[in-house]
Amino acid sequence: MRFLRSMGLFNFILILQCLYMEILEVTENKEQYIDLLLLGDEQENMIMKYLHKGILFALYDDYDLKTVAVITKEDENTFELQNIATLEIYQGKGYGTGMIKHIIGYLKNKCKCLIVGTGECEKIMLFYEKLGFTYSHTVEDFFTKNYDHAIIEDGVQLKDKIYYKMKI
Ligand SMILES: CC(C)(COP(=O)(O)OP(=O)(O)OC[C@H]1O[C@@H](n2cnc3c(N)ncnc32)[C@H](O)[C@@H]1OP(=O)(O)O)[C@@H](O)C(=O)NCCC(=O)NCCS
Repeated sequence: MRFLRSMGLFNFILILQCLYMEILEVTENKEQYIDLLLLGDEQENMIMKYLHKGILFALYDDYDLKTVAVITKEDENTFELQNIATLEIYQGKGYGTGMIKHIIGYLKNKCKCLIVGTGECEKIMLFYEKLGFTYSHTVEDFFTKNYDHAIIEDGVQLKDKIYYKMKI
């Protein structure tokens, strides 16, 4: 108590605000998150294929949106992470990792496997590998066949979709 008194109420509230992080499951007006979802998947009609049937999570820290993610149920045993994106200025601060860990916890007892597909982009592949995902399979020409424009990541056009999997 003495510690709190010496810190002052104002400072105490500030610290509480900084510590305030929550991940919400969004069930209404999912389109309001489209700008951030477009960072993870840059064609809106591709996002619309999974946004409404999917489960959308939004991570807020200090009352500001930082990260979004969408998962879909693919079959009895499998969920797929369809999209994950952190606002550019907040990347590399652990929010993406926090979101994936939250999803893994959410999926416990709901399925056996979480899969995710990505373009051949080294830093994204590393992100999933560090989290414990392992290579599953490749869908050739996914990006060149399904998108109406070339998807360029780090100066390279994406072609195949590389799938990773993780046991839940
Ligand atoms: C991939 C992404 C969601 C990770 O979110 P994040 O909040 O930056 O994730 P974390 O801070 O928990 O993890 C960062 C790790 O991801 C990797 N990483 C990927 N992109 C990164 C970036 N732009 N900046 C920093 N780290 C990045 C690094 O390996 C880093 O590991 P380290 O902390 O050990 O150095 C985020 O970079 C992003 O939104 N990228 C653009 C959208 C996208 O490509 N989504 C994936 C579609 S498959």
